[in-house]
Amino acid sequence: ARLWGLVPAAGIGHRFGGERPKQYQLLADGRSLLEASVQALLEGAELSGVMVALSEPDPFWPDQAIADDDRVMHCAGGAERAHSVYQGLVALLDQGAEAADWVLVHDAARPGLSAEALQRLIAQCRESGEGAILALPVRDTLKRGDGNGRITATLSREDLWQAQTPQMFPLGALKQALEEALSGSSLPTDEAAAMEAAGGPVQLVMGEPGNLKVTYPEDLAFL
Ligand code: CTP
Ligand code: MG
Repeated sequence: ARLWGLVPAAGIGHRFGGERPKQYQLLADGRSLLEASVQALLEGAELSGVMVALSEPDPFWPDQAIADDDRVMHCAGGAERAHSVYQGLVALLDQGAEAADWVLVHDAARPGLSAEALQRLIAQCRESGEGAILALPVRDTLKRGDGNGRITATLSREDLWQAQTPQMFPLGALKQALEEALSGSSLPTDEAAAMEAAGGPVQLVMGEPGNLKVTYPEDLAFL
């Protein structure tokens, strides 16, 4: 089975703010978050292609160096991340991907993914035949708040993980799971949640602190 990349990049970056959408904010080396996230996939794995889901219109895309890369394709995203990923899967199938192929879904806002972590994920999926995600064990003690700044409970962090991307699944199974999720009342916030709801096994593979999702401008200082 072949391996494809899918990068949802149709968000507006509301929490980040600024003049341009978050995925087009620049790293210190001059690359956009989107460019660096796509390159992390292309450099860390052997892919048949990468589909990037964009908002429409997107005046920034044509100026991206990756827009001229033969391995990189683009399609229209949707209103929420789950729609963008779903549409990306449909576009990959249009481009010759098959249901039995694997797909790596990776946020456009995670430029710090290393080839080592990516290879860990791919090896785990190929060996087990099951889907998996990169994730980090929770390090801090967790508190539940009452909405007014007071603690109501302390939670055990045992067995708790923070989900990262990439998240890797058989393409057809993920499409099916997202279809079911999109017809329900609440949307999954990652691909694993859709697969879990569909009853599929999803494995946890050790991620890395550097693979953080840029959410606010100050996050750039950690890259
Ligand atoms: N995304 C997408 N389509 C959407 C919403 C989000 O493809 N309708 C993408 C984003 O572009 C990003 C990834 O999903 O690459 C993770 O989303 P997030 O970090 O939440 O980015 P934004 O939604 O853009 O940011 P915010 O929630 O602050 O608006
Ligand atoms: Mg968002």
